[in-house]
Amino acid sequence: MYHFDPATGLSKPELYRELALSAQALVAGERDSIANMANLAALIWQFIPDLNWAGFYRAVDGELVLGPFQGKAACIRIPFGQGVCGAAAASLATQLVEDVHAFPGHIACDALSRSELVVPVLRGGQLIAVIDLDSPSPARFDAADAAGVEALAQGIAASI
Ligand code: SME
Repeated sequence: MYHFDPATGLSKPELYRELALSAQALVAGERDSIANMANLAALIWQFIPDLNWAGFYRAVDGELVLGPFQGKAACIRIPFGQGVCGAAAASLATQLVEDVHAFPGHIACDALSRSELVVPVLRGGQLIAVIDLDSPSPARFDAADAAGVEALAQGIAASI
């Protein structure tokens, strides 16, 4: 029903611009947050290469609770301050981890994960979710990935 074909050979800024535009088109006119997060997780999985997990943890009653995702089954609840996701939730700051084994308290949901990028999603200054990306490659993510996913988070905050 939906056809989004990320062009190959794009620079990271170009890829994230395409992703953001596709994400806007995907959520336009739909107000069910679970449906939107499910489609967005699939879109992220399709667009961003070299991932083994991509999805959402939602901020619910002061902790993170697993949301829609692509990848292996994952831990369901993460307290603020624990792991990479919990650090992003507690600090409201993007966490770019080149080596998850060197991150104190990293929560290994998939033993394949080597690097991770977690971006908070804020609405009206309040944390509503985090976007979590895991890669089997060490140091997979850089500042261009962080900037791209932060722009995506801003663009979809009203829809999830
Ligand atoms: N590694 C994360 C936990 C979530 S999984 O990667 C899906 C963390 O340390 O917060």
